[in-house]
Amino acid sequence: MPDLTVPPPTNQALTRINTTVAHPARIYDYLLGGKDNYAADREAAEQLVKVSPGTRAGVRAHRAFLRRAVHHLAAEAGIDQFLDIGTGIPTQGNTHQVAQKANPKARVVYVDNDPIVLLHGRALLTGSPTGTTRVIEADLRQPEMILSDPDVQKVIDFSRPVAVIMAGVLHFITDEEDPYGIVEQFKAAVPSGSHLLLSHITLDFAPQVRKEDFTKPYDNSTAPMVPRTHAEVVRLCQGWQMIDPGMVEVVRWRPDEVQDAIPGDRHAWAYGGVAIKP
Ligand SMILES: C[S@@+](CC[C@H](N)C(=O)[O-])C[C@H]1O[C@@H](n2cnc3c(N)ncnc32)[C@H](O)[C@@H]1O
Repeated sequence: MPDLTVPPPTNQALTRINTTVAHPARIYDYLLGGKDNYAADREAAEQLVKVSPGTRAGVRAHRAFLRRAVHHLAAEAGIDQFLDIGTGIPTQGNTHQVAQKANPKARVVYVDNDPIVLLHGRALLTGSPTGTTRVIEADLRQPEMILSDPDVQKVIDFSRPVAVIMAGVLHFITDEEDPYGIVEQFKAAVPSGSHLLLSHITLDFAPQVRKEDFTKPYDNSTAPMVPRTHAEVVRLCQGWQMIDPGMVEVVRWRPDEVQDAIPGDRHAWAYGGVAIKP
């Protein structure tokens, strides 16, 4: 039987949404053309666009990367369970939709620390009737809380390969918060054959942009922005084997010739890649 239980605390989530402070999920939603954002989010997003005029195209290219990589995992790599951390507000081509289109039995748990994502959980939970889709509110900086969460334990079988997705989320974790240690805890919790789908903001393709200018719009938001270099992002996958084409700018990761034709100079200022646990 499909298990489409909606987590109950949506009203609590509603009361905890602070509309006066910019949130990464809502900034991203605004940049993607969504409606679940407030003045503070729009202001931060517009500041970002001033520093990086290609931001809107970049976030769309990032979503397209996520779609292609999840499709690969479900349709070609045989993965049928997904732990998607840093879910974002539901939009088009959500992980469960892409995965369950390829494999209607795919099981997906979404994890986000923004109550607005939980609030929109109902919209997320309209997946395939044979699959399972859950959304939990938790913080990536507390891996043990996520891994021991009852919903995660119920939906994900940690004795079989899992895809851990951290798309567009690790750049909200500061060095002091130890992103490497956090990722290692998830890597250790899953068996051989598991995959890590990762994407991360970088300024490697924008040497003309000052880091302080790029990160400033996030200074007053709930999470700071921490762009990282190629070497720093690759290090997150240490010990696992990158699949082709490696950790590359997201627009270069197996582009779909029809849907994602790359105009000559388009950049997304984000790396993306998929690694397998040996
Ligand atoms: C830029 S969005 C990415 C959404 C989606 N993964 C994608 O790639 O399109 C980043 C998401 O990460 C979430 N996030 C940021 N810091 C987090 C944390 N410490 N724990 C859990 N989620 C976090 C934000 O709330 C937001 O929904």
